[in-house]
Amino acid sequence: MTETATQPGEVSAEQAAREQELIEKVLASFENTPDERLKQLLQSLTKHLHAFIREVRLSEQEWNTAIEFLTQVGHITDDRRQEFILLSDVLGASMQTVTVNNPAAGQATEATVFGPFFLEDAPQIPNGGDIAGGAHGQPCWVEGMVTDTNGAPIPDARIEVWEADEEGFYDVQYDDNRVAGRAHLYSDTTGQYSFWGLTPTPYPIPHDGPVGKMLAATHRSPVRASHLHFMVTAPGYRTLVTHIFVDGDPQIEIGDSVFGVRDSLIKPFEVQLPGTPTPDGRDLADQEWARTRFDIALAPAQD
Ligand code: BEZ
Ligand code: FE
Repeated sequence: MTETATQPGEVSAEQAAREQELIEKVLASFENTPDERLKQLLQSLTKHLHAFIREVRLSEQEWNTAIEFLTQVGHITDDRRQEFILLSDVLGASMQTVTVNNPAAGQATEATVFGPFFLEDAPQIPNGGDIAGGAHGQPCWVEGMVTDTNGAPIPDARIEVWEADEEGFYDVQYDDNRVAGRAHLYSDTTGQYSFWGLTPTPYPIPHDGPVGKMLAATHRSPVRASHLHFMVTAPGYRTLVTHIFVDGDPQIEIGDSVFGVRDSLIKPFEVQLPGTPTPDGRDLADQEWARTRFDIALAPAQD
C-alpha cells in the first residue's frame, strides 16, 4: 500500500502520532508536581513550546542557533546589564505581562513597561518643583490631577517621575553617581500635582549585544518613543506604572522598540516661545519651554 502523500509543512499520520506521543510523555512527567501553579506553568509551556517546534518544523541547526543566542544573552548579563529583560521587552513579553496584570478598569489610566532605569530614593520635590537636577533639555511644565475612576480627587498620592536627558541618557548611565531627571512628589489636598521636567526625546535601548543583533537582523529600530516615566501609588489603589508619550514624535509611527505606547498615553506637548509667561513665574525669557497635562485615574486595588 502506498502512503498518503503529505503537503509541505504537513506530516504523515504516523509522524504526527510520534510527535504527539512525546508531548504526552513530557506532560505526564510534570503530573506529580506538588505546586499546582508550577505544574500548570510547566505543562502549558510544554504545549506551546512543542506546538512552536512542530508548526515551524524547527531544524536541529536552528535550535542550536537559538541556544547559542540565549547563551550570549546570559554572557552579557551582569549586575548592570540585564539582557534577558531586554529580550523580553523587544519580544513584547514584558508589555503583554503588564497588560495581563493591569486589567481595564473603567477610565483607569493605562499601564506600560517599567524599564530598567527606576531608582528607589529619588529626591522629594514640592509641587511645582524641578526634577532636572542639572540634566540638560528643554524645560517642560507637567501638571495634572490624580483621581479615582469616578473622578474623585486622590490627595497625597505619591508620584515618582524619571526620564532621560536630551542626549537620551538616564543619570544612572553616567559614571559620576549624579542624580538627575528623577524625583518624587505628592498630589495636594485637591489631587493636583505639577512639576518642571524636560521635554522627552527619543533614545535607543542598549543594542550592542545579542538583542541588538536580533533587532538589526530583523530591520527593527532599537529606539524608544520619547517618554516620561511615572509610578503612582496611593493606599487602596492599584499601583500605576506608566509613561506619557509626545504627540507627533515620529518614533511612535516607526514603532516603539518595546511596544510600550498606548494611544491614551500620547499627550500634546505644547512648545512655548521664549519669554512666554510660565505658570509659576519661572524666568525663561531666553528659552523655549513646553507644557503638557496628564490626568491620572487610579484603579481600585484588587484583593
Ligand atoms: C525605558 O523606558 O527606559 C526602557 C524600557 C525597556 C527597555 C529599555 C529601556
Ligand atoms: Fe525610559
